[in-house]
Amino acid sequence: MNRLLAIGLLTLAGAAFSCRYDPVPQDNINELGEEQGEPSATHRQGQPCVLCHSTYEGAKPLMAIGGTIYYQNSGGQILPAENVLVRITDSQNTERKACTNEGGNFWVERDNWQDITYPLEVRAGGRRMQSIVGREGSCAACHTLPNDNSLDAVTGAARDSAGVVVVSESDLLGPCASGEPVGGAGGNGGAGGNGGAGGNGGAGGNGGAGGTGGGTGGTGGTAGAGGGGGTGGTAGAAGAGGV
Ligand code: HEC
Ligand code: HEC
Repeated sequence: MNRLLAIGLLTLAGAAFSCRYDPVPQDNINELGEEQGEPSATHRQGQPCVLCHSTYEGAKPLMAIGGTIYYQNSGGQILPAENVLVRITDSQNTERKACTNEGGNFWVERDNWQDITYPLEVRAGGRRMQSIVGREGSCAACHTLPNDNSLDAVTGAARDSAGVVVVSESDLLGPCASGEPVGGAGGNGGAGGNGGAGGNGGAGGNGGAGGTGGGTGGTGGTAGAGGGGGTGGTAGAAGAGGV
């Protein structure tokens, strides 16, 4: 047998028997295109984070929730919104909070919300999503970036898209900006807020008060302080310091 053909057949066999390949997420991932530069906490803005930060694709950190928040400046431009507080409440009434970083990105690590139960209620800054999220961890699954089908070329709103998540400019000056702790409420095992994802000195979230375990501190941003352990209960892990 021709050697090239043999290699081709081997490759095919590999694809057919690998249990990892799944055409649906793989097509969606492929459509997102190549990485521009190195992966970072501000990369792939407006893209469905959890698609890749998942068991399937395996990008670390694994995420329960992830997305990008924007605001419209006085010139009408849509820009990534830093320091916006995102609050997500699940059907058990547990809440996680996260701050957007300088790229407008935020996420909640899967380790920090293993027992998340859909549907979810979602708030970003002062805005609340009227409907509930049935089962999707990536905001961008519904809040897509503008494309050729957009009815609103600025936000990307279309028949099949809610447009990107847009908050008010004043939402950039909330608790995340002033460094107030944004860790989740204690209760059940002290849901420590996944510290403000870096960002300009974004303070790591403090572990939740009470409960059995404090939350995990936040990963420091540029010179951001790592989160403290939870009050009460077993102390939470301190967050990683800033860069
Ligand atoms: C197309 C796949 C893909 C998408 C979509 C994606 N990421 Fe990533 N991300 C990666 C890969 C690959 C890495 C590198 C880490 C790895 O390979 O485990 C990474 C790394 C990261 C890191 C770690 C960076 C570091 O310095 O260690 C963060 C944080 C992150 N991504 C956040 C996000 C956020 C937030 C979103 C959504 C707005 C997102 N990613 C969307 C694939 C993706
Ligand atoms: C299943 C689809 C879907 C997902 C996933 C989703 N959204 Fe939404 N979102 C919508 C729709 C549709 C609207 C507009 C109607 C409404 O408010 O329910 C909306 C509206 C909003 C609004 C209100 C905007 C305004 O101008 O008042 C905010 C804020 C928001 N979403 C944030 C988020 C965030 C943050 C995430 C990710 C954690 C997310 N959404 C995930 C579909 C979704």
